[in-house]
Amino acid sequence: MRTQDKIDRIKKLKREKNAIILAHYYQIPEIQDIADFIGDSLNLAEKAKNIESELILFCGVHFMGETAKILNPKTKVIIPDMDAGCSLADSCPKEDFQKFKEQNPDHIVISYINCSANIKTLSDIICTSGNALQIVNSLPKEQKIIFAPDRNLGGYINRITGRNMLLWQGTCEVHELLTAEYVLKQKKKNSDYLLIAHPECNDAVLQIADFVGSTSAMINYVKTHSSTKFLVATESGIVHQLKKDNPYKDFIIVTQDESCACNDCRFMKLNTIDKVLESLEEEKYEIILDEDLMESAKKPIVKMLDLSKKLGII
Ligand code: 13P
Ligand code: SF4
Repeated sequence: MRTQDKIDRIKKLKREKNAIILAHYYQIPEIQDIADFIGDSLNLAEKAKNIESELILFCGVHFMGETAKILNPKTKVIIPDMDAGCSLADSCPKEDFQKFKEQNPDHIVISYINCSANIKTLSDIICTSGNALQIVNSLPKEQKIIFAPDRNLGGYINRITGRNMLLWQGTCEVHELLTAEYVLKQKKKNSDYLLIAHPECNDAVLQIADFVGSTSAMINYVKTHSSTKFLVATESGIVHQLKKDNPYKDFIIVTQDESCACNDCRFMKLNTIDKVLESLEEEKYEIILDEDLMESAKKPIVKMLDLSKKLGII
């Protein structure tokens, strides 16, 4: 079957099954283009909560599908590939984190949404890169906080706010590989370009960025900025939306070294048009979670959404 025929079949199945496709900005362009809604983790969580449909096909990674299921437990949530995990979520196993938490009983736990449902049950508030700074700022200065699992996002917030949150030492394998040395080299070579970076990058990279923000925040920054040239320090999937919104602006994806031309997340890129079609046809792979686990994991996510509304972020 030709790609266009597969896409037509996906659209037909979507109508027949009353299904909604949600996609993250790191998905391949073809998937972004067939999605009913595209966004960053915060936008997608908020959207998933309010969907009144029989079926959600979530094109992103596993923790995103899990979050959608937790927020909308009556709806069947499927993902195209069960192996689409996340190195950051994997860097925080439940037993180890539980011990860490027990060693610091006077701290509350703020967890980045890139974590398993199990870690969410051990958390007081969830955050995303789109609201982490405001959520931390909304708490009293003297509040002791454990921030997990991303040490880069946590470290960035510590630096900006002057706090001293205890950081779980997890990282995203895609962003962690970008070194300030090589990023600087790319910046010098393209001196008229502004550098925009995701806060999962390490601090040395963030310190030389002109703008730091979530995928949605980067997209909005570029849309409203008068500059026409941008170096982009995050996963390469974002360039599709950037180009769509700004056909006359120029984007260079920042890479780890000369050996690679792109910056792909091997988990996000497991999803393909073939798998999306198969997933819709067979209604697989379904996210199934224990009821009690969902109930407990839901509380800190809802807290995040309520706080984000109150703070005017969503
Ligand atoms: P955003 O919340 O900015 O979309 O980021 C999600 C993610 O996985 C980044 O690596
Ligand atoms: Fe996880 Fe990094 Fe991939 Fe985002 S880019 S899904 S944080 S491995």
